[in-house]
Amino acid sequence: MFDKKTVKDVDLKNKKVLVRVDFNVPLKDGVVGDDTRIQAALPTIKYLLDQNAAVILCSHLGRPKTAADTQYSLKPVAEYLDKLIPQSVKFASDCIGPVAEKAAQDLKPGEVLVLENTRFHPEEKKNDPEMAKQLASLADIFVNDAFGTAHRAHASTVGVADYLPAVAGFLLEKEIKYLGQAVSDPKRPFVAILGGAKISDKIGVIRNLLTKADQILIGGGMANTFFKAQGYPVADSLVEEEALDTARALLETGGKKLRLPVDVVIADAFDAGAEFKVMNMGPIPDGWRILDIGPDTVSNYSKVIAEAGTVVWNGPMGVFEFPNFAKGTFGIANAVAESGAVSIIGGGESVAAIKQSGLADKITHISTGGGASLEMLEGIELPGLAALQDK
Ligand code: 3PG
Repeated sequence: MFDKKTVKDVDLKNKKVLVRVDFNVPLKDGVVGDDTRIQAALPTIKYLLDQNAAVILCSHLGRPKTAADTQYSLKPVAEYLDKLIPQSVKFASDCIGPVAEKAAQDLKPGEVLVLENTRFHPEEKKNDPEMAKQLASLADIFVNDAFGTAHRAHASTVGVADYLPAVAGFLLEKEIKYLGQAVSDPKRPFVAILGGAKISDKIGVIRNLLTKADQILIGGGMANTFFKAQGYPVADSLVEEEALDTARALLETGGKKLRLPVDVVIADAFDAGAEFKVMNMGPIPDGWRILDIGPDTVSNYSKVIAEAGTVVWNGPMGVFEFPNFAKGTFGIANAVAESGAVSIIGGGESVAAIKQSGLADKITHISTGGGASLEMLEGIELPGLAALQDK
């Protein structure tokens, strides 16, 4: 259930519309690498243009310290968008102040303007009211479609909503519907698969999901910390010593719901060409480290996934950049894609894995959010969403 107003609930005809998008995309030598987030913003942009609105897009890119960090300019993204849509895309070299104001004033219905990186102003991250007011002065209506940044309370995501009618775009609505439903009213059994390097990033998620999910399948580097908490010597495996107490507590509360790998792939170095072998989980020999889940774990987890009504996956099962340690992650990707479950994948690395495996079109919903999707799974209200008008 989505209880915020969307672009469908307001009159946009001939209006100037400021849209917060998440164009925080990877750039390599000034060229857009992965355009998923840009593509994901297109339905809202096209809808606004169909309504004959003048569309002003703003976003952050990366984590610049000042405007002098020109490698974080959104200009290449504006040029990329220009090729994706029939309208020509204009660019303003600042997001507030005279340059932005002039560009916004001159913008006609049916035209598109991209503003420079909002984080070129340190006031953005402070949710400074003056910056928010200046952004708001550019338009008649504010649309937030930046799901990936909805967990940040910044001037362009939250503050601006104090000064303009503020509604959601289609991407934000879709993300919240899928992730919200998975957590609050999932088709059961509800299975969560959590991987990645650190437990500390996902403690809140595990805690919340222990109260919602039927099974939590653990893999990736974070499994090592659980193993050590259980008393296994893990030799050179990556472990978060400071999270051992938390891991013990989670194992205790989790009981049978929290499942750990029964076998692992170990290596004699952290290297693509390292010597490797599969072993049942037990004391890891000196000089070796765990780099992937083993084949029995893939098969056990796959059985659980095959019976699921809902699957949420965040974080790889091993070091899948190295082919010898990628079988766990790709095995799980396959199981998720083949299951008839409602499947939701979030987090940069698991999304990259599903894309690499060529199975992305078999997934119900691939989230454009990393941190934002984790906060949803943690049950935290996203400030960027809370700031919008209720239906
Ligand atoms: C993301 O990529 O997760 C979002 O764009 C937010 O970026 P941030 O973590 O720099 O705030």
